[in-house]
Amino acid sequence: MLEGIDGSGTTTQLGELERHLARRGRRVHATREPTRGPIGRTLRELLLGQHRNPDGSEVDGRTMALLFAADRRDHLAREIEPALASGFDVISDRYVLSSLAYQAEEADRDWVAALATGIRWPDLTLLIEVDIELAAGRRAAAGRPVERYDADRTLERVARGYRRLAEEHPGVRLVDGSGSIATVAGRIAAEVDGFLEASAATGPSAATATATATASHGRVFPAAVGRARPAS
Ligand code: TYD
Repeated sequence: MLEGIDGSGTTTQLGELERHLARRGRRVHATREPTRGPIGRTLRELLLGQHRNPDGSEVDGRTMALLFAADRRDHLAREIEPALASGFDVISDRYVLSSLAYQAEEADRDWVAALATGIRWPDLTLLIEVDIELAAGRRAAAGRPVERYDADRTLERVARGYRRLAEEHPGVRLVDGSGSIATVAGRIAAEVDGFLEASAATGPSAATATATATASHGRVFPAAVGRARPAS
């Protein structure tokens, strides 16, 4: 999965990565969170400030965390696991690292992590790092509406959270998100190609084994690229 603050380019870069992997002859399933399913669609409306409480206040942070967790379970059951079982590489614009970085803003971090208990951990997560100002400029240039977590001070804390998660989890790699779309796409492609080559060299189950070992430490390990499970 690709991760980063709003405006870091995860959506654009996911498309670039999908094309890169297809050119390599791989079967790719590209997806995103919040998903296109019912909970994901509701989340997108909530992020835009719709569906307020009867007293006009916004839905509270713990409820948001539960909804993101529910959307992820739905995503796994409905889309990710079937695609992996059919032999596709699954790449996603955001996954569990987003919950750990963003929902920890509004709810206890350990509780947010506990909501991810037992989910499939990604084989590789790429964290696209950009300056807060650059990200704000890109959002404005794209004409994107202001969403729930878009305040610069919020995103500064989210960016620090992401960096801390990257330090804690070896499967999370940092990518410099500055420069043109093609430049950043080249950096991402190099990381993914390196990962695929290392996985091929060490055997088909290496990446899955790493993810399992990480999960067994009770750690949350956010997403970049999931590969089909090796036949057992
Ligand atoms: P984004 O990915 O930028 O989508 P769009 O381009 O459609 O606006 O926005 C999704 C927002 O959802 C972003 O602010 C991060 C937030 N988010 C969470 O807070 N937690 C999560 O678990 C996920 C998946 C997303």
